[in-house]
Amino acid sequence: MTLKDCLRKVQRQKFAIGQFNFSTVEQLRGILDAAERMKTPVILGTSEGESKFLGLKEISALVEISKMKYKVPVFLNLDHSKDLDYIKKAIDFGYSAVHFDGSGLSLEKNVKYAKKVVEYAHKRGVLVEGEIDSIKEKSLTSPDKAERFVEQTKVDSLAIAIGSAHGMFKKAKLDFERLKQIRKKTNAFLVLHGGSGVSDMQIKKAIKLGINKININTELRLAWKRTLAKSLKAQEIKPYKILPKVQKAVQEKVEEKVKVFKNE
Ligand code: 13P
Repeated sequence: MTLKDCLRKVQRQKFAIGQFNFSTVEQLRGILDAAERMKTPVILGTSEGESKFLGLKEISALVEISKMKYKVPVFLNLDHSKDLDYIKKAIDFGYSAVHFDGSGLSLEKNVKYAKKVVEYAHKRGVLVEGEIDSIKEKSLTSPDKAERFVEQTKVDSLAIAIGSAHGMFKKAKLDFERLKQIRKKTNAFLVLHGGSGVSDMQIKKAIKLGINKININTELRLAWKRTLAKSLKAQEIKPYKILPKVQKAVQEKVEEKVKVFKNE
């Protein structure tokens, strides 16, 4: 099953597919174990920073090998990349999707570069997520602009700013009216970034109104760090005895999120 098929399916069934970011092997395993237990497709995300730490090539190889072990569909997305050469590299190494974040550019330049990414990616069967108006409260996504951007660039998915923010710094209050308007204007898959800290009720409502993919990172990092810090206090020094607990903590957090995404 391709990522496009999966997203179409979740769009029809009105649930969302989660993108969970990682930069270490125990995080990767925690995410995949959760997806397998929950019988749900999953998107693994790596930002430029995360992928530079672990290595694009190493990540692709790890994910390819994992696909043989896990029964659920597993996809890999390059998250928030602004660098066209880096995006091409990720595609060449086998990423299933790339997120070109041109939200800091003028709309004209964003369209120009997004089109280039789409041209390169689509020839290779890779999906492209675009972004206009960064995920900040002051510049929420304009429905008209979203419509034009998707039409002009042919991106498959669109990251929209409707009130969530990366991190857990404030209580998110989503602008559902705006989401409804955007959904009316475009058939692109709609992506909610900054999923950490958004209440379950708001997530469920956003899915009902047309969000198809939700990105989670900070909550996983917090679970990872808290459990690691606790485990390091003991006398144990063997990583293979310390890290399973950390992996489990990530798994549990992902399961918690998937339940919400599946409206369970
Ligand atoms: P959080 O860190 O707020 O979960 O956001 C993740 C994200 O949107 C990655 O693109």
